[in-house]
Amino acid sequence: MSDTVLELKNVSREYPGVPPVRAIDNVTLKVMSGEYTAIVGASGSGKSTLLNLIGTLDRPTEGSVFIDGVNTSQLRDRQVAGLRSARIGFVFQQFHLLEGMTAVDNVATGLIYQGASRRSRQERSTTALHRVGLGHRCDHTPAMMSGGERQRVAIARALVGDPAIVLADEPTGNLDSKTSDDIVALLERLNAEGSTIVVITHDRELAQRIPRRISLSDGQIVDDATTTKEHS
Ligand SMILES: Nc1ncnc2c1ncn2[C@@H]1O[C@H](COP(=O)(O)OP(=O)(O)OP(=O)(O)O)[C@@H](O)[C@H]1O
Ligand SMILES: [Mg+2]
Repeated sequence: MSDTVLELKNVSREYPGVPPVRAIDNVTLKVMSGEYTAIVGASGSGKSTLLNLIGTLDRPTEGSVFIDGVNTSQLRDRQVAGLRSARIGFVFQQFHLLEGMTAVDNVATGLIYQGASRRSRQERSTTALHRVGLGHRCDHTPAMMSGGERQRVAIARALVGDPAIVLADEPTGNLDSKTSDDIVALLERLNAEGSTIVVITHDRELAQRIPRRISLSDGQIVDDATTTKEHS
């Protein structure tokens, strides 16, 4: 038995313009706890728009987004922000770390809305950095780190608040292939440890390693394939 952590019901997002762009067109979708899902599709197919809707960074023009069973369309912006900070972790292609802060302080920003003491935030951040293999880099700033290490810090920041779901938009887009493999392996391990992950990728090889693949074309889901693991 698994719970639905995310549900989209007939979600559309139209960007205003002449003519308007229907970037997401009537998408219905469920993600269950523990799933590892890729969103794939050509440039302009609506992947980032969809991830922003899933992550409640943007609101649909039509339809509803449910996070942990909560209908976000019925919440005010401040309530949505609270739900987002407690339940969703983000990883971006550009890492979005604060350059002047150590790794542990960067990760601790993921706990800012949780009202924990500074000491407990530092402890949880240190634990999260150990989980991503950076226990030895806690006091380094991003400038002292490789691209792969920076992305690990960003992943630790996404995980530290124990979110229901981790959303990643092209997490390996700025990394060389060896470093990408390490990040892919890390995401696989985190999923095996129980994290629910949705990742956007252009990388076909990466997508093939992900158990569920949702294909977008012109803002619509055109395929939703799950590879079931063979157990001997
Ligand atoms: N702020 C915006 N205003 C108007 N149109 C937009 C806006 N953002 C995206 N679009 C349009 O919506 C469509 C989907 O864009 P989106 O960024 O979601 O694509 P994507 O699949 O993430 O592409 P890429 O792989 O290049 O990142 C595109 O046609 C794009 O031009
Ligand atoms: Mg995009």
